[in-house]
Amino acid sequence: MPGVSGPSDYSQEPPRHPCLKINAKEPFNAEPPRSALISSYVTPVDFFYKRSHGPIPILDNIDRYCVSISGLIGKPKDIYMTDIWKLPKYNVTATLQCAGNRRTAMSKTRTVKGVGWDVSAIGNAVWGGAKLADVLELIDISNCTSTTPFGGKHVEFVSVDKCKEENGGPYKASIPLRQASNPEADVLLAYEMNGKPLNRDHGYPLRVIVPGVIGARSVKWLDSIDIIAEECQGFFMQKDYKMFPPSVNWDNIDWSTRKPQMDFPVQCAICSLEDVDVVKPGKITIKGYATSGGGRGIERVDVSIDGGKTWVEASRYQKAIIPYIADHASSDKWAWVLFEAKADISQSAEIVAKAVDTAANVQPENVEVIWNLRGILNTSWHRVHVRVGHSNM
Ligand code: MTE
Repeated sequence: MPGVSGPSDYSQEPPRHPCLKINAKEPFNAEPPRSALISSYVTPVDFFYKRSHGPIPILDNIDRYCVSISGLIGKPKDIYMTDIWKLPKYNVTATLQCAGNRRTAMSKTRTVKGVGWDVSAIGNAVWGGAKLADVLELIDISNCTSTTPFGGKHVEFVSVDKCKEENGGPYKASIPLRQASNPEADVLLAYEMNGKPLNRDHGYPLRVIVPGVIGARSVKWLDSIDIIAEECQGFFMQKDYKMFPPSVNWDNIDWSTRKPQMDFPVQCAICSLEDVDVVKPGKITIKGYATSGGGRGIERVDVSIDGGKTWVEASRYQKAIIPYIADHASSDKWAWVLFEAKADISQSAEIVAKAVDTAANVQPENVEVIWNLRGILNTSWHRVHVRVGHSNM
């Protein structure tokens, strides 16, 4: 693509905040410490997890940067940034979560393949950009279309970055046309994150944001869009990011038996405490985040200080002043909620949190029952252990 060059090595990586915990250096994968993650409802860009599969591309010339749209449509079209800037701009507050979030904990049950993540492969940002539904109208695809007259049913996003999983080809993914062309699904071609142009790590100059869906489908550094008949056949759709049962191992896996994962299941994690923490006896604050996929709100977060025998309900909040009401117009439907509960601790305890979404989906009690060989979607009850220390605190 004109205007963009993709470095083939890691010699020109962007600067990053020193507080990030680096889980893999090349490609760069890093997450913030738990406490930093929940210090604000909107995650500062510096603290937002970074998940890449290859060197970070460099854009030379924004004037020449364009996205080519082709495939099962009437006439292919190149869309320039000036075309995108002219479309109505939307700011959508949406949580992005990597399907591999909390993988490290799953790998303690049985080995899994993939980059290890603690609980912070997630962040909540205000994404600014054009709705994909409006962009598709530029190529005569009307709102809420499921199939084009030429048989197009899926929208494939192809990136600039090159990754080894694609044998040196670009990262790609697709979503159904029905979702892409629905203005209410809020799928964006985003050029801003928290009111500033995207930075290189997060997809400068343009990325896809698919709210409510695992992060893998929100393709960064967008190069082209294809309208296709079947879902994208790329590695990350067909040979990765699929959820398998615990019985499937690397000897009996048949990738074709499962659909690519799209919506995220209900999830929560405690972030005010590490897995094992020493606290003073007395009141402690248990804080964290809860989120669900598909635009479902968080109905409840239950917290236990006795390993799940008894529970109290945590308070939930998004923005200051406005009370959070799940699935209400005043709430950000694609965004996480933060939760808080206070408890009195006099002895060592196992603290647990579990969330319930507005469809009454609840997190599974144990990681064993959802173990899968790729270590994705660890949404089991989040447990931390506190030891009560009396001296030197
Ligand atoms: N897009 C491209 N082009 N290359 C990538 O490696 N990683 C995906 C997605 N989009 C990826 C990509 C994955 S797995 C996730 S979880 C999110 O981007 C991470 O986005 P972030 O780095 O902005 O947090």
